[in-house]
Amino acid sequence: MEEQRHSLHKITMAPSILSADFGYLSTEVESISRLSDWLHIDVMDGHFVPNLTIGPPVVEAIRRHSKAFFDVHLMMTNPENYFENFAKSGADSVTIHLEIGNTAERIAMARDHDLKVGLAINPDTEYELLRPYLSQIDLALVMSVFPGFGGQSFIPGVLDKIRRAREDIDREGYNVSLEVDGGVNKETIGLAAKAGAEVFVAGSAIFSHSDRGQAISELYHLALQALGR
Ligand code: DX5
Ligand code: ZN
Repeated sequence: MEEQRHSLHKITMAPSILSADFGYLSTEVESISRLSDWLHIDVMDGHFVPNLTIGPPVVEAIRRHSKAFFDVHLMMTNPENYFENFAKSGADSVTIHLEIGNTAERIAMARDHDLKVGLAINPDTEYELLRPYLSQIDLALVMSVFPGFGGQSFIPGVLDKIRRAREDIDREGYNVSLEVDGGVNKETIGLAAKAGAEVFVAGSAIFSHSDRGQAISELYHLALQALGR
């Protein structure tokens, strides 16, 4: 059976606070942190992506309201200028984009600040470009929308990249979590899980639900179900 090729990785939900109500951020973060071990935090610089969000001071402020693993997604052209600040603010991991270049140097710089390091690829970036870095990172992030905004539709064409990353991670025994971000909802999470993703970022599917605990639990169980567990 297909799923037996996969290692029995843990399924993790990572709610994206991009879809939270920023006017009530402390309350939003506290309530979502009671429901999830991870929080996905989208940092946009208005240059790598056409949107601006939050920076280290906000991460520091919400750190006081959450013990969750802070999975900080840096959609930035020059993320290294902020690694130190994010580390001091309480980020647990920083994920940089492969498209900005100088990947090995930037991974090493993030490590200097004792951060876990993720590497992300956009929907139009080939998986082969990420593969050489699997031995150097903790998290591989396959974007299933073009980054910049929440609430977009999942691009099914990225499933093949998830499949190939899963095969490489399992075959080589890399200690890398495979994450998918963008358009993850009840219809798409099973597809991503079957392809081999294990960390599922979801913004609108969780925050727009009247019962966020139920939304997280439904998504989690749909992922498990897709794996026949
Ligand atoms: C997209 C961000 C995502 C976003 C996902 O640029 O990186 O993390 O918040 O939101 P949904 O789940 O609504 O697609
Ligand atoms: Zn993200």
